[in-house]
Amino acid sequence: MKLLGYPTNIDAYRTVRIENIEDDTSRVKTFTFRDELCRHAKPGQYIMLWVQGVDEIPLSLSAINHRGLSSVTVEKVGEATAALHSRKVGELVSLRGPYGNSFQPTEGNVFVVGGGCGLAPLLPLTEDLTKFGSEVTLIIGAKTRKEIISLTKVKPLLEKKGKLIVTTEDGSYGLKGLATTPLEELLTKNIFTMVYTCGPELMMRRVFEFSEDKKVRVQACFERIIRCSLGLCGSCVVGKFRVCKDGPIFSSEQLREVLDEFGRYKRNFDGSRVHF
Ligand SMILES: Cc1cc2nc3c(=O)[nH]c(=O)nc-3n(C[C@H](O)[C@H](O)[C@H](O)COP(=O)(O)OP(=O)(O)OC[C@H]3O[C@@H](n4cnc5c(N)ncnc54)[C@H](O)[C@@H]3O)c2cc1C
Ligand code: FES
Repeated sequence: MKLLGYPTNIDAYRTVRIENIEDDTSRVKTFTFRDELCRHAKPGQYIMLWVQGVDEIPLSLSAINHRGLSSVTVEKVGEATAALHSRKVGELVSLRGPYGNSFQPTEGNVFVVGGGCGLAPLLPLTEDLTKFGSEVTLIIGAKTRKEIISLTKVKPLLEKKGKLIVTTEDGSYGLKGLATTPLEELLTKNIFTMVYTCGPELMMRRVFEFSEDKKVRVQACFERIIRCSLGLCGSCVVGKFRVCKDGPIFSSEQLREVLDEFGRYKRNFDGSRVHF
């Protein structure tokens, strides 16, 4: 099927030109491209990006429809991400998607907690929440000042309504400690309607436990190994769920059903269950 001459089948590969590359940190870059289907994506959805000759990897959209353009913010961790980092503006990549469910907006006071590159899907979410009228407190956690991503992008988003808290493990910027430290304190003192989170699974587990304790609901974005993205191969399973199809966003009700795996075990490339 075609929409204004454009394929609407999300599984069909599209080849797009890299329109812009931004260095976020020494290990993280943001790649911007034009794709009609990504322009209509929802915060939290991911694409499968095929780095020709290397691998296909899942990446959350970190910007959606900024004057028709979309972005992914990518940390260099291995072969495919390193190959992507070596690409230049004007070069081509292929992608399919967007896939998965999306964050659901909530009214009132909400927390958004991002660790490291987990901030990527939380950027379009924060943008949507502020438009929706929610009062956003965004916590960005990083190891050091040099590893904080997207500060210049989030500051204007929260200028009119919202609060930004930055934590670094070595205290080189913002509050010293983990992203979960101010969360625990603020959850005790204030009333929040939702906590949105993405980042290392151990961090998300702590975010979930604090929130459960205070009876605040959570939406957590999982980053497991995704291969097919179609619900077929099983490499992304967390308990009864497949992250690629049922997620990547999971609610408190769903997280309660996978407590023996969430932040405890993950699947390896060969499908075996290993400790975090
Ligand atoms: C839904 C989803 C959204 C994601 N969004 C982002 C994002 O916005 N930005 C970003 O930088 N990363 C994101 N990731 C993680 C990203 O997919 C991996 O970092 C990437 O696949 C690593 O590929 P590689 O070949 O460079 O590394 P490899 O050499 O394959 O492995 C290096 C490390 O990355 C981990 N890893 C490898 N493949 C995957 C995979 N498919 N999924 C999860 N972890 C993997 C391995 O455990 C290993 O520790 C996301 C993952 C998922 C599932
Ligand atoms: S990635 Fe294949 S089932 Fe989810």
